[in-house]
Amino acid sequence: MADIRRPENMQRITTPELAEAFIEEQITALRAQIGDRKVLLALSGGVDSSVVAALLIKAVGQQLTCVHVNHGLLRKGEPEQVIEVFRNQMNANLIYIDAVDRFLDKLAGITDPETKRKIIGNEFIEVFAEEARKLDGISLLAQGTIWPDILESEAGIKAHHNAGGLPEDLNFELVEPVRILFKDEVRVVGKQLGLPDGMVYRQPFPGPGLGVRCVGAITRDRLEAVRESDAILREEFAKNGLEGKVWQYFTIVPDFRSTGIRDGKRTFDWPVVIRAVNTRDAMSATVEDVPFALLQHITDRITHEVAGVNRVLFDLTPKPTATIEWE
Ligand code: XMP
Repeated sequence: MADIRRPENMQRITTPELAEAFIEEQITALRAQIGDRKVLLALSGGVDSSVVAALLIKAVGQQLTCVHVNHGLLRKGEPEQVIEVFRNQMNANLIYIDAVDRFLDKLAGITDPETKRKIIGNEFIEVFAEEARKLDGISLLAQGTIWPDILESEAGIKAHHNAGGLPEDLNFELVEPVRILFKDEVRVVGKQLGLPDGMVYRQPFPGPGLGVRCVGAITRDRLEAVRESDAILREEFAKNGLEGKVWQYFTIVPDFRSTGIRDGKRTFDWPVVIRAVNTRDAMSATVEDVPFALLQHITDRITHEVAGVNRVLFDLTPKPTATIEWE
């Protein structure tokens, strides 16, 4: 299956009927490749790995083992949603690993963004490999590789090797059922497979998660401020028709404090920065013109509901000169 390419004349999957045809085709292909063997999948809860999981559950059911690693840098409610959708609703064989302390201990005191990224990436591979070694008789590894990943890696833009990085003793055969799809097609297929909209239409979320939005050395309290303020922003954007309209929106908590006042007393707390941008390819981005009254309402909620925050800022900067993420 490794070298399968998208046929030049393949019709773009835009309708439930086309998605259903793709699903049926893949189920046959997956059963042929897998036979009675077992498959392992790192299930992050992102669109690609979720669609791969749902396809494999349909094709081979309990022969699939999903591993969900909670590294402590996920958005509010994400690990719970993965468990609810895959274990409770789809009856998947799901191993949930709470690795929060492990990641946060490794990241303690680390301020350099690229070092933070490396630690998060390496630790993820280590946790996943440890789990894989515990499971007997699994020879296949499923991955949410999509067509742009293949094109970008061929063009030398991005080294795409999700499996790359796994220790050599873990010599898996790859299963890549969405390999020839573009992102929009993966979403149509996911919708047809019955995945919730919140999973299928979610905005892009970086691999290092909230870790690159908790600027500088990550501390648990500041990370909670990122997570809680992000949840409020997402809730308000959803309520006010901006979900699905704005390409990416999130909050950042820098590692400095400023003076404020609450209940007549001086405070010395963190600011929360709101970022909301639109782009086609993430190479450049413009800032969403968020209604001022909504920004005021979100400010009010964040400053009253999020511990340790006394100020809210809106990032007005397009890319370039700023990147989308702060780190
Ligand atoms: P920047 O900050 O480079 O972001 O303008 C462009 C897009 O890429 C996402 N991003 C990442 N995604 N791992 C990822 O998987 C990363 O380390 C990473 N850094 C940035 C960012 O969220 C935006 O969509």
